[in-house]
Amino acid sequence: MKTLIEGGTVITAIDITAADVLVEDETIVAIAAPGSHSWADEADKVIDASGKYVIPGGIDPHTHMELPFGGTSASDSFESGTRAAAWGGTTTIVDFAVQVKGESLVGGFDDWMERAEGNCAIDYGFHMIAGDINDESLADMDVLIDRGCTSFKLFMAYPGVFYSDDGEILRAMQKAAETGTLIMMHAENGMAIDVLRAQALERGETDPVYHGLTRPVITESEATHRAIKLAELAGAHVYIVHMSAKEAVAEVAEARDAGQPVFGETCPQYLFLSHEDHLSKEGFEGAKYVCSTPIRKRADGHQDALWTSLATNDLQVVSTDHCPFCMDDHPTLGTQKKLGIGDFTAIPNGLPGVEDRYQLIYHGGVVGGRFDLNRWIELCATAPAKLFGMYPKKGTIAVGSDADIVIFDPGTEWTKSVDQHHMDVDYSAYEGMEVKGKVETVLLRGKVIVDGDEYLGRKGDGAYLPRERMSVHH
Ligand code: URP
Ligand code: ZN
Ligand code: ZN
Repeated sequence: MKTLIEGGTVITAIDITAADVLVEDETIVAIAAPGSHSWADEADKVIDASGKYVIPGGIDPHTHMELPFGGTSASDSFESGTRAAAWGGTTTIVDFAVQVKGESLVGGFDDWMERAEGNCAIDYGFHMIAGDINDESLADMDVLIDRGCTSFKLFMAYPGVFYSDDGEILRAMQKAAETGTLIMMHAENGMAIDVLRAQALERGETDPVYHGLTRPVITESEATHRAIKLAELAGAHVYIVHMSAKEAVAEVAEARDAGQPVFGETCPQYLFLSHEDHLSKEGFEGAKYVCSTPIRKRADGHQDALWTSLATNDLQVVSTDHCPFCMDDHPTLGTQKKLGIGDFTAIPNGLPGVEDRYQLIYHGGVVGGRFDLNRWIELCATAPAKLFGMYPKKGTIAVGSDADIVIFDPGTEWTKSVDQHHMDVDYSAYEGMEVKGKVETVLLRGKVIVDGDEYLGRKGDGAYLPRERMSVHH
């Protein structure tokens, strides 16, 4: 099966080229100047990309399909969440398998592999949440590395749930250093936050806004600093997830400037939304925007600083941390965000976004004049592929790479709404936002799975993607 994509502008993290792309079965087999070949004669299918961008499928290295959290589970299943990702031009996710206290690391991994198997619309890999660091789980890390899971997430937050203390973190980092794998860190001082939360509730402060107010900047920047220092002590690479505070980003930048292998990501919610306009909305409405780390105050300059850090490479990746919970009851999962009416600490943490990211970062970054087209691709596809051991199979348009290709119309203007998204959640975090640029066609390993308004894929199109170790150091 040969597919020719002709007349488009191919954009990678490096180049912007008027070029035609020839796909054979699942792979990109040739790229050439328009008119310099006769591929149309032999192609089974020709896609006209005139006036459009031809870009690599997006890679979202931080999603939580079906994550159990706070007495419920994230509302997107692997089936619905990966289909929504496809609509948004993302063709690979790296989700998080979960080990909880008292259970084995390999057991948790097997459970999450089973949940995903046969259900995904796009390719998927797993990081492993190590929630119980001990001799057995450290030994199990070797088993998972052999199975293509080469990154491990630790939590300095959520005591009693996923939390690891500094000694446990150091041991896991030593193991990561020994094996050349990557530690991903949820950097918030969970012990201090728990004190602040209890004190707020004692004062009768129960609204969603207190979620943000009891996770002040210093709880993120202190934990980020500590994670970086522990990584230095262990000689490990560390990647700080879902960063929202400019002071925490400054810790990453300082370490990178000193030559330490430290990396960081932020997410669209921290770039576009704010404490003032969203988290502190009247009544219970702010629950829509409850996530950790919290969305921060625009008046303090966090959003602008995050955009700048993406432009200057102080941060390397935009992921979503997709972890949706419905405001009204979910048909099968029941009460979700409303578990926290009258007690903000019981609101499940997380926001939807897997469908939104690629287009939103084009809109805010490129249309907004903050960085160029190449950097957009780097942040949303190429850098995640390199950092998480998928490059050059994924994350670029090159001969030999998987034919994960998005045809993107840079000119379409439209309004975001829950009515047009495909995520299994009853609100959009970006409701009413007017944006430019739209995903038009999506190919997963050569198969057209989205064609305009039509979904042509099916569950099970996506395959498990065993990952190598990271292929960049800075
Ligand atoms: O609020 C968030 N971030 N929910 C998902 C779990 C996590 O900490 O990544
Ligand atoms: Zn986290
Ligand atoms: Zn997360």
